[in-house]
Amino acid sequence: MKSGDPVTAAFMTWRRPNKEPYRSGVHGQRFVNHYANGMAKDYGNFKSDTKLPKGSIVVKDSFVVTESGEVMSGPMFLMEKKYAGFNSDSNDWLFMMIQPDGDIVGMTNGPGASKVQFCAGCHNQAPLGQDNLYYLPETVRKSN
Ligand code: HEC
Repeated sequence: MKSGDPVTAAFMTWRRPNKEPYRSGVHGQRFVNHYANGMAKDYGNFKSDTKLPKGSIVVKDSFVVTESGEVMSGPMFLMEKKYAGFNSDSNDWLFMMIQPDGDIVGMTNGPGASKVQFCAGCHNQAPLGQDNLYYLPETVRKSN
């Protein structure tokens, strides 16, 4: 199944709160960028008491650099804040993982839901008050 998701086309124009791509150990050692849509405009403030409103979307795209220096696209990781009651196990976040060719690996409450359960499992352990968000490593945060 192709994602056909408007997000995959749109997110390149969204705010990018990181200064440069960085390597994410918890997302397969890939290099990633974060992007946040308009609803998620407070994402870039990295305040621990920020609760993003319904409709907020934060995505990370990723790429891998092979030993020979080749750059290859990796999957896209997405979180979207849904309505209250959407999914209590994920604190009402929808998690989605999309392959570089547009195939959806899985999404919360949708096809392949079991394949993204581990996402919520780890994001549920984000520091209290951060609404399941981990934000960026401090060293790559852009100051506003
Ligand atoms: C073992 C823990 C862990 C797992 C599993 C995990 N993440 Fe993350 N995620 C993090 C951490 C830590 C960050 C903060 C940035 C970083 O270090 O990459 C993050 C950041 C993110 C972000 C940016 C929003 C934020 O929290 O700041 C998205 C979107 C995201 N992850 C989606 C996913 C998806 C989708 C999956 C499953 C396919 C997943 N993550 C699995 C730990 C995890």
